[in-house]
Formats: sequence, C-alpha cells, structure tokens
Amino acid sequence: MSNSSPSGAAAQQYCEKSELVQQDRSHLIHPQHHPDEHLDPQIWVSGKGVVLTNLEGRSFLDGLSGMWNVYVGHGRRELVDAASAQLQTLAFATAYAGSTNKPAIELAGTLKRLVYPGIEAFYFTLGGSDATDTSIRTARFYWGAKGRPEKFKIIARKLSYHGSTIGAAAATGVDEFSAVFGPRANGFLHIDSPYPYRFTTTRTDVSPGVAAADLLEEAILREGPETVAAFIAEPVQGGGGGVIIPPADYFPRIREICDRYDVLLISDEVITGFGRTGRWFALEHWGVEPDIVQFAKGITSGYFPLGGVGVSGAIKEVMDSADSARRWMHGYTCSAHPVACSVALANIRILEEENLVERSATLGARLLEQLQPLTATAHVGEVRALGLLAGVELVADRATKQRYAESAGLGRKVKDELLSLGLCTRVTDDIICLAPPLVISEEEIDRLAALVKQAVRNTTGL
Ligand SMILES: Cc1ncc(COP(=O)(O)O)c(C=O)c1O
Repeated sequence: MSNSSPSGAAAQQYCEKSELVQQDRSHLIHPQHHPDEHLDPQIWVSGKGVVLTNLEGRSFLDGLSGMWNVYVGHGRRELVDAASAQLQTLAFATAYAGSTNKPAIELAGTLKRLVYPGIEAFYFTLGGSDATDTSIRTARFYWGAKGRPEKFKIIARKLSYHGSTIGAAAATGVDEFSAVFGPRANGFLHIDSPYPYRFTTTRTDVSPGVAAADLLEEAILREGPETVAAFIAEPVQGGGGGVIIPPADYFPRIREICDRYDVLLISDEVITGFGRTGRWFALEHWGVEPDIVQFAKGITSGYFPLGGVGVSGAIKEVMDSADSARRWMHGYTCSAHPVACSVALANIRILEEENLVERSATLGARLLEQLQPLTATAHVGEVRALGLLAGVELVADRATKQRYAESAGLGRKVKDELLSLGLCTRVTDDIICLAPPLVISEEEIDRLAALVKQAVRNTTGL
C-alpha cells in the first residue's frame, strides 16, 4: 500500500502516533503525572487564533487558552518576532550583581503604569509557583527587616491553588498537592473560601461576603496577630476551586482586616492578571489594592516562561534600606530574562492596541448570557463568569446542591464529551472551567457556549 494514498497516510500517522506515545510514556514525566491519562493523549502540533490542531489533523476550540494563559491567541507573529529579535541581539543576560538589561527595565516601567497604583517595583520569576515563593519570602523578609521576625505565618484559603514548589504547595488549599509529598512546610494555615454557591454561615448580622472575610480575622486572632505575615488569595479562585467569584464586599473587608492587624495582602493574579476578568488586575473590581501582587501566564500569553511579583512602595523602601549583609537574599538565574521580557512587552502591546481587556469584559458578559439558560436544567447548579473566566457547576441534585459521587466520574465524561464535540477545556470537580483566548470572536463565543450546552445535555441525560 502506497504511503501517498489516504489510507496509507492514515496508517503512517497511526504508526507515528503510537511511537510518540510509547516514547512519551517511557521518558516524559508530566505535571500531575499519571500514566492512565497518557494512554491516548492529544499530541498538539499547531495553533492559530482560538483553534488548536492535533497530530491527526483534528481541530478544537481552545476553551482554556492552553493552560489559562494564551490571551492573545495562538500563532501571533508579533511575539515570534519579538523573541527572535531579542534572541539574535542578546539571548541572555544576568540581572544579578550590578547587571541589568533594557527589556526588563522597560517591562518594569510598563507594569508600573498598568498595575495597581500603589505597586512600585517588580521582580521577575519564571512562572507562578516561584512567584508565590517570592511573595511569601518577601512578606517574611519585610517583617523581619522591620524587627518583627516572629511574624512569619501565611494564611491562605481552602480550594486555592498557588503552585507546586514547596512553599507554593504549602499555601495551596487543596490537600492532594501536598499529601503524597511528606509534611507541609511550616507556618501555613487555611480558612474557608467565600464560595457564594456553597458558603454557609450561622451569622445573620452581616452579609455572607463579610462573614467569609471575617474568618480571616478569627484566624489572625487565634494565631496571634504578632505571628501572621500575610494573607494570600486569588481574586477569583481558578484551578483549585473551579472559578469561584467572591461577593463584592469580600475583598474590601479583607483589606480592612489586613490593615487592622498589620498583615500584608498578597493578590495571586496568575490567572486573573492582564485582563482575564475584564480589568487589568482583578481586585480593581472591588476597589482594593494589595501590598504584593503576583502574576505569570497572561504576561507573555505562554509564548515564553515568565512570572513576577510587584511590591508596594513601603515594601520596596524596606528592601532598599536593608543593610547589605541583611539584604533580600533571593534570586533566580533566569530572573528578568531579556527574551521573556521582550515577549511580554510585545504581548502587552497587543493587549492594549486590540483593547483586549475591554473585550474580555464584553465577551464575558455575552458568554454568561449564553450559558445562563443551563441553570434551568436539573443538573446545572450555577453558571458564573467575570470577564472571560467562567464556570459551569454540575450537581447531582439542584435542590440540595449535592455533588455527583466521585465514582460517577462525571467530570471525566464531560471533558471527553467536550473533546469529542471539538472543545478542549478543563473540568475541575464537576465544574466546567472556561477561559478562552481574549481574541475570541462573538461567533466563536456562541459556538463555545453551544458546545458546552450540548455536552452537558449529552452527559447528564437532559
Ligand atoms: C493562581 C495560581 N497561582 C500560581 C500558579 C502556579 O503557576 P505555574 O504553574 O506557572 O508555576 C497557578 C497555576 O495555574 C495559578 O493558577
């Protein structure tokens, strides 16, 4: 049989795939590795706009922007050119010990213009996990330098995800990320999330948002305010929680509590930064400013690894005035990588020139409106969205909000059904997460919503 005939091409492709899968299974360790998930993986080979194509040539709508990060869409020439130009000029330069580089300087200046007004200076990491570690170390450094080293505890929330390094996993509020790796790092504790659909309180004197925020005050008082360095929170809980949007009065109250007890507020905007929720940074929705903000993903749209941390003027001042021998002794070889910073600058230019932050707000509202009718069906508990960050929560019983039994494997079934319909995304604890590229068109939003509705109908039998 000739390889040029259609069936010959298919056979050749089958051989190529099975060989690749075999090598993958033998030699490549994946994030959250388990071989069962790699019996027949998608081998992605190309992307254009909001469409991803696999080895077999099948195309899928990218419902999660890769891994919540490809904001400007796949295949953007501008980012390729920015990386290429920088690679050809200066592929690497250290930012240690009296060295710096132009793209990093320009990027820090650009962020000063776009991030919360009180955030003064930036340190660049390679991604989100090391940004979390940087925030935690910086908060502890700050209090230590101010003569209060006993202020080291970090309060985080259940259902939060902050990354997979030792520090970031200790802050993460999902036990599975720590359980199999021995004891958690010391000094981390977790309070309940302000999960509007599921949060319950016996308090009747305040709103649920304030009651949820007051859990922070309770925790601080229980631990002793003199021992607490910082509270870390995602403005919208993404990967761990399945898109949990807090009530509007939650973060204003959190800010008050942090101020009352001298606790730094760290906003983890690895998913919510750079316009994902319809604002440049998500605490803007509620008029709140953090002391430390961390970001990654959308800063380069995933074209090059980069993350970072921005700190308030007060923290920068403490860093600058430290004795040389007691300096902020933290650093990564690839911090302020010139290629990453060049890609980030080109990416931010696209976000600004194409008004993608505003588009995220408008198209997010359209997506929410299109998905809303699902809540009239028996197995959709809630549909929620802030900008182009949306969640569809499936439940066994709408009246009691009871979840499906784990043995039902619904999340897996929905994910597979979505894939078979041509939509690639993530399902966390029976919550369909949606975060398409911000360049998605109106027609593609409508298609995305139609595919989600179809998959829900096909898997919940309604
Ligand atoms: C809110 C948040 N923080 C931190 C991280 C960790 O980032 P990375 O995977 O780049 O280390 C993630 C990753 O999804 C995240 O969603």
